[in-house]
Amino acid sequence: MKLEGKVAIVTGGARGNGLATATCMAREGADIVIADICQNMSTIPYEMSTPEKMAHSVEEIKSLGRQAIGVKCDVRKATEVESMVNTAMETFGKIDILVNNAGNSSMVAIAEMNEDTWDEVVDTHLKGMFLCCRYVLPHMIAQHSGCVISISSVGGQRGFGMGGHYCAAKHGMIGLNKSIAMEVADHNIRANVVCPGTVWTDMMKGIAEYFGMEEEEGKEQFFAGHLIKEPEITPEDIGQAVLWLASDEARCITGNMITVDAGWTAQAA
Ligand SMILES: NC(=O)c1ccc[n+]([C@@H]2O[C@H](COP(=O)([O-])OP(=O)(O)OC[C@H]3O[C@@H](n4cnc5c(N)ncnc54)[C@H](O)[C@@H]3O)[C@@H](O)[C@H]2O)c1
Repeated sequence: MKLEGKVAIVTGGARGNGLATATCMAREGADIVIADICQNMSTIPYEMSTPEKMAHSVEEIKSLGRQAIGVKCDVRKATEVESMVNTAMETFGKIDILVNNAGNSSMVAIAEMNEDTWDEVVDTHLKGMFLCCRYVLPHMIAQHSGCVISISSVGGQRGFGMGGHYCAAKHGMIGLNKSIAMEVADHNIRANVVCPGTVWTDMMKGIAEYFGMEEEEGKEQFFAGHLIKEPEITPEDIGQAVLWLASDEARCITGNMITVDAGWTAQAA
């Protein structure tokens, strides 16, 4: 098994790409801490996970024969992140892998965007990555080992109209990752990014529904850039990329990224 005896934190792990990532890692021997807000946000036009959904996801991981806990945590808040990391350390005694996956989105033009709309998206992705690294890295440095994988997006490599806040945060995560990789390489810690194309999770379903699109229309619009139309990118595809980056097979890869986008970024935007 690729991650035998490892302990991984997955933020936003109650569903979607995060849950698939947690499942991929658990199948390969990792114990899991799911950290999720489990509470709706005022400017995000679809529902976040619930405590019930997180409890169900924890049971799913346990059914694979691994240990798992769920911790309610808003990654935008330092006190909640610090407490989540303390709980992980008290439960498992170490943290080998941090997956910064928590995310959300809304679609608003910059000329019409209010401050809360900007903050809820940018703070979740970018400040959330900073805070989780801020509180996890000291433990990894003390262990002299660890691995951080952050989920950016094709939106970290190009712009999306009505997604200025999302793209700014996702570009920022790639820059932050490079700096972190430089700071921790001497401590035997690697830091990398995965950039998904469109994956039909609750986030994309929620955005499509907000614009009154049926599933077929939403997929036509949001999958338009993919060169490979079939199969669709699944959360499992994202989880497999994260798993590989977390494994020893990727031991010489740091400060870098893998784009799982069905060829989207091969074309000029
Ligand atoms: N689905 C896509 O097409 C796509 C494409 C590129 C990147 N991504 C990225 O993948 C990641 C996961 O998204 P998903 O598609 O699985 O969406 P999702 O909505 O299914 O899952 C996101 C999870 O994050 C949690 N969350 C949101 N804000 C949080 C916060 N402040 N603190 C803690 N938890 C929070 C939600 O409750 C939810 O469980 C995100 O970072 C997203 O930007 C998704």
